[in-house]
Amino acid sequence: MRVLGIETSCDETAAAVVDAGGVRGSVVASQADLHGRYGGVVPELASRRHLERLLPVIDLALEEAGAGWDAVEGLAVTCGPGLVGALAVGVAAAKALALCLGRPLVGVNHLEGHLFAVTLDGGPPPAASLALIVSGAHTDLVWIEAPHHYTVLGRTRDDAAGEAFDKVARAMGLGYPGGPALDRLGRLGDPAAVPLPVPMADRRDGGYDFSFSGVKTAALRALAAAAARPSRFEADLAASLQRVVATSLVRAVARAAAALRPRALLLVGGVAANSVLRARMAEEAARLDLPLLVPAPRWCTDNAAMIAAAGRSRLVRGERAGADLGAAADLPL
Ligand code: KG4
Ligand code: ZN
Repeated sequence: MRVLGIETSCDETAAAVVDAGGVRGSVVASQADLHGRYGGVVPELASRRHLERLLPVIDLALEEAGAGWDAVEGLAVTCGPGLVGALAVGVAAAKALALCLGRPLVGVNHLEGHLFAVTLDGGPPPAASLALIVSGAHTDLVWIEAPHHYTVLGRTRDDAAGEAFDKVARAMGLGYPGGPALDRLGRLGDPAAVPLPVPMADRRDGGYDFSFSGVKTAALRALAAAAARPSRFEADLAASLQRVVATSLVRAVARAAAALRPRALLLVGGVAANSVLRARMAEEAARLDLPLLVPAPRWCTDNAAMIAAAGRSRLVRGERAGADLGAAADLPL
């Protein structure tokens, strides 16, 4: 089944065509330029930009796939979680297109989309897998029981990992979103140079929740205290912050893996593009003798191919959205 995927949950307007052979076309129009000057996403501006860009982006994705409208056999759209106005643009467009084309539609949870990113270059993850979803809005440790059956073992109690990276990067003047720039800068620094606390180091509760606002504040304080701000300090801080964030994430994965004995580990979401986290997760997977499934960096950050892949799996199983499909800002996985 050839599926058109649509993603508008935050600040990327994206469309993609995915079929049994993989990704046929994928277009992502980033709004980073629009929101950069405000240091974060402005929801109202995001919705308006999605409205302007969505149809041209879909046209480009179809063109890239060498497919016309009649070649679209099903549609998949992100229906949450995310910015409700931004989501509503994608959902309304997808419903209208499904109706016009007489093709089936499914709503896809954005987080399930991130999980399906691993299928774009490889096969589906085996059942009984342990997944870490790390993005600008989410930090979730998820048990994948079977296809489309998830249990969230833990989540962040405050900032997402990507949010902490972005806020520290912004204070360094690295722009928005600053995660990728922080990653590059950190390669020049010493990860042991700035003493930062490892978040949730003391796990007497035995849980799997995360917390990144404390380490974010510690990093912002260290930055403010380095009055002269030589660039070397910023590189050291970037490296040190990434080290403790990765340590916190990988420790939770290691504990969950010891308890649940998964058959594979997954690392997905925008922050899965981070070089430090990728390396640390690869080390952990090797230590546990488990396969690690990580999407190529282009499929880690928001895109519509992952939404089309997740939706395609649901459509093939016969799932259909009703005319009442809506956008839900806090849709649970
Ligand atoms: O999944 P995503 O595109 O959007 C959300 O669903 O939130 O994730 C975006 C997040 C941003 O916080 C961005 O700074 C972060 O992913 N990110 C990175 C890297 N690439 C993207 N963070 C650290 N290192 C990277 N290389
Ligand atoms: Zn995302």
